[in-house]
Amino acid sequence: MTRLVVLISGNGSNLQAILDACADGRLAMQVVAVLSNKADAYGLERARQAGVPAMLVERLAGEARAAYDVRLAQCVRPFQPDWVVLAGWMRLLSQSFLQHFPMQVINLHPALPGQFAGTHAIQRAFHAWQAGEISATGVMVHFVPDEGVDNGPLIAQASVPILPGDNLTALESRIHQAEHRLLISALQSLCPPATQS
Ligand code: GAR
Repeated sequence: MTRLVVLISGNGSNLQAILDACADGRLAMQVVAVLSNKADAYGLERARQAGVPAMLVERLAGEARAAYDVRLAQCVRPFQPDWVVLAGWMRLLSQSFLQHFPMQVINLHPALPGQFAGTHAIQRAFHAWQAGEISATGVMVHFVPDEGVDNGPLIAQASVPILPGDNLTALESRIHQAEHRLLISALQSLCPPATQS
């Protein structure tokens, strides 16, 4: 069974989409651990409710980025993941982490390739739409081979329309629904046919 370690920082609705797809057979994969850098991440509770080991790995006071990333990698490695999925992981990963998982780290981002990298992507897309600069936005899933922010070889993308009358909440909701679909289809595309039942 393909082994997933999921890294989160918050609500974990995308983690939930993965857990549900593993449970109902849409994904021939298993979430073997969930790690959060935030103590109040609700995704930790979602993991526990699904019977998945949930681990908090907070950055220590004064801890350098590289030192934290080494420690994070040491927490992830014993779970022997095939893929490390960043599902709302809101912290840049350096080579100190990435070198341990070459082309095995996958990131979900709520924007199209080359647009609105970094935090508050949905809010920035909404403001760009209000300013007449864009008519649609989207979501993407990509590999994380290096320290680039929300870029890397694309696995899947989907366009998300912004509709007349939308407010930020409506757009966020539409984007999250698109993410939940895209993340599962992206993971399905990574599953070698021989491992799918
Ligand atoms: C998602 O919209 C995800 O794309 C975004 O955080 C949200 C997490 O939601 N990630 C990034 O912005 C990464 N740059 P969730 O905790 O409900 O899954």
